[in-house]
Order: sequence, then C-alpha cells, then structure tokens
Amino acid sequence: MATCTAPGKIYLFGEHAVVYGKRAIASAINLRTTVTVAESDQTTIASSLGTTGIDYIVHPYISRCIESLSVPAVSIKIDSEIPVGSGLGSSAAAVIATLGALNHEFELGMDKTALARSGHAIEREVQGAASPTDTFVSTMGGTVVITPGASQPVSAKLRLIDCNIVIGDTQEFSSTKELVGNVRILHERYPAVMNPIFDTIDSLAEIGVPSIEKGDYRSVGELMNIDHGLLDAIGVGSAKLSRLVYAARGAGAYGAKITGAGGGGCTVALADGAAAAAVASAIEDAGGRATITEASEAGVL
Ligand code: MEV
Repeated sequence: MATCTAPGKIYLFGEHAVVYGKRAIASAINLRTTVTVAESDQTTIASSLGTTGIDYIVHPYISRCIESLSVPAVSIKIDSEIPVGSGLGSSAAAVIATLGALNHEFELGMDKTALARSGHAIEREVQGAASPTDTFVSTMGGTVVITPGASQPVSAKLRLIDCNIVIGDTQEFSSTKELVGNVRILHERYPAVMNPIFDTIDSLAEIGVPSIEKGDYRSVGELMNIDHGLLDAIGVGSAKLSRLVYAARGAGAYGAKITGAGGGGCTVALADGAAAAAVASAIEDAGGRATITEASEAGVL
C-alpha cells in the first residue's frame, strides 16, 4: 500500500493567458488531496464522487493515470480538501498524488520532473488543452513563475507568499475545458483584441516578480486587481465572482481576483493576518464560502 498527498494552488497572475504561452505566477496552498493505492483483484476508484472502476465519466483523470502507467489492478482511495471544479487545481492535485502513489507502489522510478510531465500530459488528454502550471505547482510546491515552453516549462521558485490567502468559493461548478474553449473562440474571432490582453497579463506576471520577492503585497494586490478586470474582459467572470472580489477588497484585502478557469469556482484575496478574518466574513456575507489558508513550500509528499 502507498499513500501520497499533493497540494492545490491559486493563481496570482496568468490563468488563461498561460495557455497561449504567457507567464503565470501560481502558488501551492495548504489544501491537499491524499491518495492511497493498493494492489487488488480488480481496479476500483473511490472518491467523494462515488466508487467506480476505470470510468471516464466519473473519474476521467484517475482512470487515465492508471491506464497511462499500465499498472496491474489497484484499489484507489481519494480524500480531498480541495473542492472539485473550483479553480483550485483539484484535478491536478488528484493526478499528481495518484501518479506519486502508483510510482511508490509499483517502484516505477519516476522523479518529480517525470511526475509533473506525466501529470501535464494526462490533463491535456482529458481536458483537450492544459498548461503545465497546475500539475507543475502541485508537484514542486512553492510560489512559482512559469513560462510554458514548447517541450518543458521554464520555472523559477519565488519567495513563498507569507501573508494570508483568503479563498472565496462561489460554490458554482466550473469546467476548465469549457472555459478554455470559450476563450479560444473569442481569441479566434478577435485576435487583435485578445492578444494584447494576454500580453498585458504577461506584463503583470513580469512586474509582479520583484514585488513578491520584496514581500510588497500592496503592489501585488494592485496588480491582481488589474488582472481581475482583464479576466472579466475575456469572458470568464460572473456577477457572483465579482461580488466576492469586491467584498474582499472592501474588507481590507491587498487585492482580489478570480483564480483558475473562472465562470464559477473561486476568488483569491491576499490579506495580512489582521485583515484576513474580516475579509473572510465579508466574503461569507456576500454569499461565498471563505477559507483562510497559506502558501505551501511542499509539493507532492
Ligand atoms: C486552470 O486552473 C487554469 C487555466 O489557465 C487552464 C490551464 O492553465 O490549463 C484556465
């Protein structure tokens, strides 16, 4: 039997634009998915979604992990602190923890780079399009700037975010595949409009690096607010996401924005220790579910 855990993540900058090769900054957070695997007579996958065998409707990511490694029959149990379809990287954390646990159980000899690479391939196969960000951050942990490359992402670890991270969950399911598809349609119709927006988001990530390294969260927050407006502009916002964002800002957050694919899912706000509780309660008053968390240096364990 083998157990692995992997973290979820938030984006400070760059979701969607990263699919077009632009830089993104994301951070692992202290919400984790734990996967236990054991050799068995038949393959079963048990999670909060139910218990199935290989099943591409209920458990597409985990089914693909098992099949891609060509391992014998296994029982897999998934426990997650990360809500599914929330933009916090639940699928990447489940994929990386599953690959990590299978790697231990069957002594496949994969190092972290190989895990991240396989995880990215699985996300791409299941979703149709995926940047390496979610699977990379879930594997390596930390606060990371990523430039997706043709073969492999170029990444650098930054100073770990050391203020509070307040998540606002709309509790509305969001499909990354669908949202990425909607942005693709806009990009195909209006490349002259969408490309400069992606370039501006890339600049936010570039300008954000020194502010993160200095721990200047006031500036990071200002840049996050700009990114939120741009995400709204490319059609991945919603009235509820903006309500949670404005509630967080009004309660003293340094900045707040959508995190992940958008449409529904979550917002992220940065706040210092004194303001975090007020930000969380403003998010709850605005109809969201708030979680106060921190960045995690640890990736897959
Ligand atoms: C989803 O967490 C982030 C997106 O940029 C998609 C991706 O990077 O694969 C929307």
